[in-house]
Amino acid sequence: MMLKGRKIVLGVTGGIAAYKVAELVRELVKAGAEVQVVMTRNAQAFITPLTFQTLSGNPVTTELFNLIAESEIGHIALADRAEVLVIAPATANIIGKIAGGIADDLLTTIVMATKAPVLLAPAMNVHMWENPICQENIQKLRQRGYHFIDPEAGELACGYEGKGRLAETPTIVEEICVLLSPKDFSGEKILVTAGPTEELIDPVRFLSNRSSGKMGFALARAARRRGAEVTLISGPTALAALPQIKYIAVRSAAQMREAVLKHLESASILIMAAAVSDYRPKQKAPEKIKKSKLPTVLELELNPDILAEAGKKKNSRIMVGFAAETENLLQSTWQKLEKKNLDLIVANDVTLPGAGFEVDTNIVKILDRSGKVEELPLMTKEDLADYILDRIALLKKS
Ligand code: C5P
Repeated sequence: MMLKGRKIVLGVTGGIAAYKVAELVRELVKAGAEVQVVMTRNAQAFITPLTFQTLSGNPVTTELFNLIAESEIGHIALADRAEVLVIAPATANIIGKIAGGIADDLLTTIVMATKAPVLLAPAMNVHMWENPICQENIQKLRQRGYHFIDPEAGELACGYEGKGRLAETPTIVEEICVLLSPKDFSGEKILVTAGPTEELIDPVRFLSNRSSGKMGFALARAARRRGAEVTLISGPTALAALPQIKYIAVRSAAQMREAVLKHLESASILIMAAAVSDYRPKQKAPEKIKKSKLPTVLELELNPDILAEAGKKKNSRIMVGFAAETENLLQSTWQKLEKKNLDLIVANDVTLPGAGFEVDTNIVKILDRSGKVEELPLMTKEDLADYILDRIALLKKS
């Protein structure tokens, strides 16, 4: 897990959204991060230090001049220790203080002293958010390299409707991961395909392949964290949209082909994790076929092999394919690598427990053009995505 052992200092300031940050701490700790919470005096009016202490498993610090705390985890020690400093919720007040160079309590002193990236997740009343002074402060801080996660629009605790709600926990977690990731793919444009395709028989029935889209989404997310500009072309999945990733929704193989060929030109790396349906019905009925008229034999035609077609336009691009097999894994995978003109192919035996469809883990072998086979142990799709990117990074260098 990418957050395992990472040191996060989390500043909590005095807004009603402070209660939502309890969940953020829980998620970060669950992912293995070491979280140290620092609260302002006003934050303690909304939620108690004990809540954060219990959830983080670490003492919560609140005072700048607390003799015991200062000797154990002083403000400079916390500032130095942080790999990333997150402030959530960030009030208009803390944003103003940081922008004005004020360091009059523990949190603002840490902000002033740290060399770590600082991520602010503002939450406030919509009029406070829109106030030009607040916006100027944010702009000034952005120019100085501070990172922001904009609040979301919706119903606010103060009774107003508008922009000002604290960003959702997964959004904040994702931005923390971005800040903690190396940027070895910056400047690269990566095209990823994911999910199944659906081939309509009539308006309500279709042929498809088993695929949750999890592997492709994990690859897109990891590539974006590492600095790439990512386009994700996906068939229908139940997965949530990914921030800062260009998403192109398709249904059929024909639509996926069109989208891939359109975006291939500008991509430097192509990763095809989609489980494209091999066949489509030769005819699509315009209306739902009545049960009594349903054919017992369907005439099918083969879908185009998108990756093989893209492989013909490979040039200097790096191309990675996937192969899901149930027998003779290696033999058929070598053939695929050749036929589709790939640099790497990631093969899994989908009959193994913990590998393949729907699950969050995978067990794969990675084959390359030099004839090497690398066997990887059971790992999460998130970790595997990073591993595949590591292999691509090596190809980029050679
Ligand atoms: O030949 P097979 O479908 O097993 O190959 C799997 C690989 O080829 C995957 O990377 C998949 O995304 C891609 N593919 C494709 N177009 C198809 C079928 C598979 O791009 N019609």
